[in-house]
Amino acid sequence: MELINHQFITFFPPEQAQKLCQLAIIETFDHEHLIFKEGEKPDYLYLVLEGKVEFRKAQYYDQFQVVASALPNEFFGEFGVLDGSPRSAQAIVSQQAKLAKISRYHLMEILDNTKSTAILKLFHYIIQRLRITTEEYVKQLAYKDKMVLVGEMVNSIMHDFKSPLSGINLASEMIKELNHDPQTIEWCNLMTIQTQRMTSMTTDLLDFAKGKNVLNKDSFKLKESLEKFIQFNHIYFTDANITVKLDCPFEITIYGDEQKLLRVWQNLATNAVEAFQDHKGEIYITVKKVMTTDLNGCIHLQFSDNGKGISDELLPTIFDPFVTFGKEKGTGLGTAIIKSIIDAHGGKISVSSELNKGTTFDIYLPI
Ligand SMILES: Nc1ncnc2c1ncn2[C@@H]1O[C@H](COP(=O)(O)OP(=O)(O)O)[C@@H](O)[C@H]1O
Ligand SMILES: [Mg+2]
Repeated sequence: MELINHQFITFFPPEQAQKLCQLAIIETFDHEHLIFKEGEKPDYLYLVLEGKVEFRKAQYYDQFQVVASALPNEFFGEFGVLDGSPRSAQAIVSQQAKLAKISRYHLMEILDNTKSTAILKLFHYIIQRLRITTEEYVKQLAYKDKMVLVGEMVNSIMHDFKSPLSGINLASEMIKELNHDPQTIEWCNLMTIQTQRMTSMTTDLLDFAKGKNVLNKDSFKLKESLEKFIQFNHIYFTDANITVKLDCPFEITIYGDEQKLLRVWQNLATNAVEAFQDHKGEIYITVKKVMTTDLNGCIHLQFSDNGKGISDELLPTIFDPFVTFGKEKGTGLGTAIIKSIIDAHGGKISVSSELNKGTTFDIYLPI
């Protein structure tokens, strides 16, 4: 947009508006360019003409929390410029941005000679932005509280589960000792695997609640892993009257956390199974290789079902934690955990769905 049409400029009478445009310095910044740091002395007010700028506050280690953003026709940095206090967050370009900056000195001079209407407009804008930021802050605070609660809950559940789980493991080992027929051994192994899975699922949840996802990466064969996953769940799928079709025409070695990715497939499968009402369900898992610009290539894994689908209202929030719909005992954490694991692998996940037709999750994973 043109600077003269920017809302900040239009707050002022024509003479001052003209002067502000003359004084403004227009600059273009690339993606990820740091405009100012948290704690820095404020020197400019910035008007966004193109692109997008995000405001991030330092959290712990090298983690940042996005607290707000500014789009064309919006402006930022006014707090520091007006009261001289250090920047309360860092401003970083998240989409190549064209900005007009006005120095604190010039702005104060013009404001000194401006009628109260312009000041009132500015005041109105600032209050509106404050409202939005406060709302976002309260939302994040409530979210954090929930996560702390989940963490405490999982911790105590894990503690209580430990002894019954090791009891089951021990019993299955004993049964194996006493019965050597292949069928019994297979069932006992299944019990061991499933109890191990319960332990790692709770660990996942705990990691997620703490806000970290530490990966234990190693090379593993994807096709073999998916076949193993289907085998683990054979009884679960048969009981639910569901057939699972895997279409992976090649074997490929992936460098990733196999246990965590198994949890992704598991969460996707559980959601799919829960989405079949009373008809016979089908789950399709297809794997394709995709070339990427860095030539390393990636894997496109598609996970589809012909279940009841997801409504348009729910779809955009599906990966948010605590979003659950149509289930008596839903936690709303399954898809959030899926996304955090895929993100930790540097991958991407998206979802598309049609009511009463089915749902497809598209996952792109670096090899
Ligand atoms: N394959 C699917 N088919 C239909 N609805 C789905 C599917 N996957 C997820 N959903 C919807 O998304 C919601 C969130 O899923 P999730 O995060 O796993 O939480 P939960 O399963 O505990 O409710 C579910 O409650 C459900 O309404
Ligand atoms: Mg779920």
